[in-house]
Amino acid sequence: MIFRWLDERLELKKFKDKFLAKTFPTHPTFLLGELALFSFVTLVLTGIFLGLLYEPSTKMVSLFGSMVPAAYASVVKIDLLPMGMIIRRIHHWSAMIMIASILTHLARVYFTSAYRKPREINWLVGLGLFGTSLGASFTGYLLPYSQFSVTATSIAYYVSKSVPWIGGGLSRLLFSGEFPSDGTVPRFFFLHVMLVPAVLVGLIALHLLILVKQKHTEPSANRIRKESHGGKKLIGIPVWPEQVVISLSFYFFLLFVVSLMATYVPLNPIEVYGPPAPGTPVMRPDWYFLPIYGFLKLVPGNLSLSIAGGKITPETIGGVIFPAVLFLLLAVIPFLDRVKEPLNYVENPLHRPVMTSIGIGGGVFLGMTAISGYLDVFRIEPGTMMLYTVLVPLVAWGICYTLLRLYNRRRE
Ligand code: HEM
Repeated sequence: MIFRWLDERLELKKFKDKFLAKTFPTHPTFLLGELALFSFVTLVLTGIFLGLLYEPSTKMVSLFGSMVPAAYASVVKIDLLPMGMIIRRIHHWSAMIMIASILTHLARVYFTSAYRKPREINWLVGLGLFGTSLGASFTGYLLPYSQFSVTATSIAYYVSKSVPWIGGGLSRLLFSGEFPSDGTVPRFFFLHVMLVPAVLVGLIALHLLILVKQKHTEPSANRIRKESHGGKKLIGIPVWPEQVVISLSFYFFLLFVVSLMATYVPLNPIEVYGPPAPGTPVMRPDWYFLPIYGFLKLVPGNLSLSIAGGKITPETIGGVIFPAVLFLLLAVIPFLDRVKEPLNYVENPLHRPVMTSIGIGGGVFLGMTAISGYLDVFRIEPGTMMLYTVLVPLVAWGICYTLLRLYNRRRE
C-alpha cells in the first residue's frame, strides 16, 4: 500500500529494477569495504549522541571541586551518564575498526590487482578516503582535551609548523593560531563533526557510484564457471533482497562485537590521563599513527637543511615527507602495473611474485617503523633500529619473492 503510494510519486519500481536487481559477486574478502562503511555509520550515530553533550571550549569550569577545561569536564560527564562511557568507547573502537578495515581492504585490492584498469580512479578515491579517515581520527584526538590529547596534538602542531615555506600559515589555519590556545578546540570540533565527515560522505558516495558503474571484480573461480556454461553475466547474488540481508546481518554482528569490546576493554580513559598539566609525559598515539610517530624517532635530531629559504627539519622528514612519499607510492601503483584489457577477475597473489613480494616487504617496513615508536621501551639506539628497519623488510621481500618464483616454476 505505502510502496504503491510512493511508487506513483517517485517511480520506486524503476529504481528497484535498475539498482536493486544488480548482481554483487560473493567472496568473504569483499565484505572488508562494507566493514569500513558500517563502522562509519556507527561513528556517525554515536557521534551525534556525543556531539549533543560535548562542549567545545577550553574555558575553566569547576568539576568535583577542581578547575578543569570545559571540554574535558563535558567528556567526564558523558562517561558518568548511563551508557555514556560505553557509547564513547563504541565511537573510539569503531574508529579503530574503520581504519583497520580500510587497511585490510586496501591490501585486498592491492594483492588481488583490483586497482588495475578500469579501477585506477577508484583506487585514488580510496586513497582519499584513507587519508580523510586518518584526518577524522586525528581531529577527534584533541576533543576530550586531556593530558593525552594535548601531548598528541602538539606533535602534529610542530609537524605542521615544519612544512617549508607555508608551515606558519598552515599551522595557524589548522590550529586557529598557536597551540595550545583557546581557538584550537572549536576549530577541531568544526573539522571533526562537519568538514571531515562531509568530505567522507562525498568520497564514499563517489567510491560506490564508480563501483556500480564499473562493476565489481569477480572471484577467479567464476571465470571457469562462466567458460563451462558459456555465460557472460556477472555471477553473484542480487543486491535486493539477498545482499541486503547478508549486509544487515553482518552489521548487527559487528555492533554486537563492538559493544562487547566497548563494555570490557577500556579505551582512552581520560579520567586516568587527567586534564592538561605542565610537562610532557611519554604517550604513544593509536596504532595507526605509530609508523609516523616511530619514523619521527628514527630521524637524527640534527638533520636539517635549507632549500630556497625553506627549512627542512627532522619533523618535516618524519611527519610530512615520509607520509607524503608513502601516499605517492601507493597512488602511482595502478599507473606502473598496467594491463591493456580491463580486469574482470581478481588475480591470485601467489601468481604475482613481484607485486606480492613488494607488498609484503612494504607491510614489514611499516611494521618496523611502528615498532620504532617503542625505542624507549626496547632500549634500542635509533641508528641500530634504522638499520633493522631497512634490512628486515629487504629480507622479507627476498624470501617471499624467491618462494613465489619457485612455486610458479613448479606450477608451469
Ligand atoms: C572509508 C573507506 C572505504 C570504504 C567505505 C570503501 C568501500 C568499498 C566497498 C563497499 C567496496 C565493494 C566491496 C569490496 O570490494 O570490498 C569497495 C571496492 C573497492 N575499493 Fe573501497 N572503500 C574504502 C576505502 C578504499 C581504499 C583505501 C582503497 C584503495 C586505496 C579502495 C579501493 C577500492 C577498489 C579499487 C574497489 C573495487 C574492487 C573490486 O572491484 O574488486 N577503497 N570499496
